[in-house]
Amino acid sequence: MLGSRTDATGEYDITATVSWHALAAHYPHVYALHLRELFAMDPERGSTLVVDAGDLHIDYSKHLVTGETIELLLSLAREAGLEDRRDAMLAGEHVNTSEDRAALHTALRLPRDAELVVDGQDVVSDVHAVLDAMGDFADRVRSGDWVGHTGKPITDIVNIGIGGSDLGPAMAYEALRHYRQDGLHCHFVSNIDPVDVVSTLDDLNPETTVVVVASKTFTTLETITNAVAARRWLLAGLGVDDGAADVVAKHFVAVSTNADEVAKFGIDTANMFGFWGWVGGRYSVDSAIGLSLMIAVGRERFAEFLDGFHTVDEHFATQPLERNAPVLLGMIGIWYSNFFQAQSQAVLPYAQDLARFPAYLQQLTMESNGKSVTAGGRPVTTPTGTVYWGEPGTNGQHAFYQLLHQGTWLVPADFIGFARPTDDLDGASGGSMHDILMANFFAQTEVLAFGKPADDLAAEGVPADRIPHKVMPGNRPSTTVLAPRLTPAVLGQLIALYEHITFVKATIWGIDPFDQWGVELGKEKANALVEGLTDDSAPAASHDSSTDALVRWYRDQRGR
Ligand code: F6P
Repeated sequence: MLGSRTDATGEYDITATVSWHALAAHYPHVYALHLRELFAMDPERGSTLVVDAGDLHIDYSKHLVTGETIELLLSLAREAGLEDRRDAMLAGEHVNTSEDRAALHTALRLPRDAELVVDGQDVVSDVHAVLDAMGDFADRVRSGDWVGHTGKPITDIVNIGIGGSDLGPAMAYEALRHYRQDGLHCHFVSNIDPVDVVSTLDDLNPETTVVVVASKTFTTLETITNAVAARRWLLAGLGVDDGAADVVAKHFVAVSTNADEVAKFGIDTANMFGFWGWVGGRYSVDSAIGLSLMIAVGRERFAEFLDGFHTVDEHFATQPLERNAPVLLGMIGIWYSNFFQAQSQAVLPYAQDLARFPAYLQQLTMESNGKSVTAGGRPVTTPTGTVYWGEPGTNGQHAFYQLLHQGTWLVPADFIGFARPTDDLDGASGGSMHDILMANFFAQTEVLAFGKPADDLAAEGVPADRIPHKVMPGNRPSTTVLAPRLTPAVLGQLIALYEHITFVKATIWGIDPFDQWGVELGKEKANALVEGLTDDSAPAASHDSSTDALVRWYRDQRGR
């Protein structure tokens, strides 16, 4: 089948496949239907278009799809070789073609007794050796056995990292608030804006602080600059000279794949927790990059977090496509991106603890799938990538839901909620606040789907001139993801679900979701510009006329 859509370069054009053409022909029929009609045609839809993955109960009935749409989307997935490509990723083949390496984040959550040898390396034992070392360190910090230079136990952990070396642990630390050890606090510094590191360290005592410098490459400008600032702060606060390696050893650890750079920075590599080139930054929260999280919640809870990922990995690997949650949701995403021309996807967690989840997903999905060429380097033939954004409910309802309900853009939305709250209180007039939250959740998905037609408004006596403003068109699609409770395992399941959705879409688009060349030029330009901004003797003009004029204005303001 692959041969039928392969061109002279060995690549295929997804838009030339039989299934793509069939979907294009099918699209006008679905476009003409309203979700009200789809539910009227199939009253069982709400209980049949659901899928469970681990603890996640997923309802996709409120999507603009018929049974035929799903069949055609799954044919497209098959025609794109999704199952083979998934198996290749899980087996450690070099699916990251532009960097010629594996994308083996799923190995980070394999159980200890699993077997996986990749490129001659026993991956499972390597992974568990690092997890054990992390666990020993976390135990020592949590028990007070690990002490700082002045003999005091540690109360604060500062994770310095950016992108995948920040967003995952920062998001999960918030999400698992209820599982943290009392008296231990994690802080996350990422931005090169000095405000970030200054405002974080201002409130801390260097005697009781450990800094985790988290960087896969250990060359990232923001991270190294912030780490140097933190080391200065620590040594000054402790009244010791720079070069006091024994002091640094008690207060600095590193998470990296680059031992040479870690040593150059002055961190003893005995205090380094490693990972591997085959772990992409945005797929690394379950690697040693999760060290600060593990210190906060403990090694057992971290193991449950990993088990959660593994549950969904197994689901993705083994379930038939018709019952495979990441496949169904990924393919429905393709349906909206490429046939309805939807550009964005809202992620709406009805859980304050997941406030950072949309930001986390932005890197996962947009750094992965924001590509204009195929894995083989040819221009793509269809839009790729999806703009992910969102806020926790009900805050979003009072901000941007107006556009979701009555605007002209189609914005599919993922609603994520939980049966049991992490905190609850009585509502103002009795009942539970969590129940009120979830009543809003269910109400929003219902109103988005079914809206309110003009006839109903007229029957209610709404004046004719007001009706157009009050009509709720409905037909706005959403996925509902419910779980019993936000536990470490459920958080791992949620992350793995989105990792695999991202992979499914990338496979259809034929792009490499594991590289990120697009961020490089900005880094180079910034490095080149720093001198022009800071060195009085540097020539002020060497770029385009806009940038040169802005730099001159900036230098002028800075008195240079
Ligand atoms: O933004 C580019 C990027 O390479 C991300 O992919 C990565 O997560 C981040 O920078 C941080 O990289 P590192 O962990 O090497 O410091």
